[in-house]
Amino acid sequence: SQNIYILGIESSCDDTAASVIQNGTILSNVVATQKIHEAYGGVVPELASRAHQQNIVPVVHQALKKAHITKEQLSAIAFTKGPGLMGSLLVGTSFAKSLAFGLNIPLIDVNHMQAHILAHFIDEVGFNKPPFPFLAMTISGGHTQIVNVKHYFDMSVIGETIDDAVGEAFDKSGKVLGLGYPAGPEIDKRAALGNPKAFKFTKPKVDGLNFSFSGLKTAILYFIQKETKANPNFIEENLNDICASIQYTIIGILIDKLKLATKETGITHIAIGGGVSANSGIRQALKEGEKKFGWTTYVPKFEFTTDNAAMIAIVGYLKYLEGDFAEQNVAASSRLKI
Ligand code: KG4
Ligand code: ZN
Repeated sequence: SQNIYILGIESSCDDTAASVIQNGTILSNVVATQKIHEAYGGVVPELASRAHQQNIVPVVHQALKKAHITKEQLSAIAFTKGPGLMGSLLVGTSFAKSLAFGLNIPLIDVNHMQAHILAHFIDEVGFNKPPFPFLAMTISGGHTQIVNVKHYFDMSVIGETIDDAVGEAFDKSGKVLGLGYPAGPEIDKRAALGNPKAFKFTKPKVDGLNFSFSGLKTAILYFIQKETKANPNFIEENLNDICASIQYTIIGILIDKLKLATKETGITHIAIGGGVSANSGIRQALKEGEKKFGWTTYVPKFEFTTDNAAMIAIVGYLKYLEGDFAEQNVAASSRLKI
């Protein structure tokens, strides 16, 4: 049968990304990460939009080149419609619409949160696909959700954060400790060298499957303020232990909710996605869950967990097979729901 080539475009936050997929297989996966935000300790929307504007054509060009195809060979263009930062989304959306119009091929709109989950359906050697139904936990700097996935496009959010995302809990705690942005990876590295039970932070009390992380951030701030008043060198003398304790607390919150979700749904296949999936502590906790609770867990390759366009391309491919195309007047939607 004929090959289907989809170009995926992702620009919802601070990464400009493009990817070409041939049927289910990724041929290229290019990401231009915007370094400019590090200096500000968080993503600055206005700067993100401008950087996307500069990066989008070179990134798409590279994705086509690495895939060894020309744009005339493309079957369709898939792009992130939302959720995300409006200015950032507009760049990818407008570019995708123009390119599809110019090439006279279908345009496919993709929900970024669905894409984090459906990244699990990219064909990769040694990459097990979860069977339906499964639970997906998307954990990143922008989102924290537990989703009951009945089929590719039949999924429902059964729990989500009522304030900060879990990645923000890592990043904001790191800021209190004087670590650079984003702090998640460094907390992870230091946690491996520290004692997770050195300091105790209380877990937030949130009903059901929802999460809350803003209280934890405040608790850590007050704790550090109190301790450094007594000992100005408290942070540097205890940094690894503090990181290990913070990470232990956060992972405990995530695992508690997963336990409840498996109990409520009876589903024990669990897939994760989003940048925080890179955390070695959560990976280990999921492995332990396999032994302790009979879970089967699915952790994608790192390049498919953080924001990327391969996940947009795979959703584009799945929608292409169903003939599910966007209208020409489709618009970006910053609060798009699953
Ligand atoms: O998916 P992502 O690249 O971008 C979005 O937020 O959509 O996720 C970035 C988040 C940041 O908060 C970062 O600190 C966190 O993922 N992160 C980690 C680790 N690697 C990235 N958090 C904990 N441990 C890590 N190893
Ligand atoms: Zn994301």
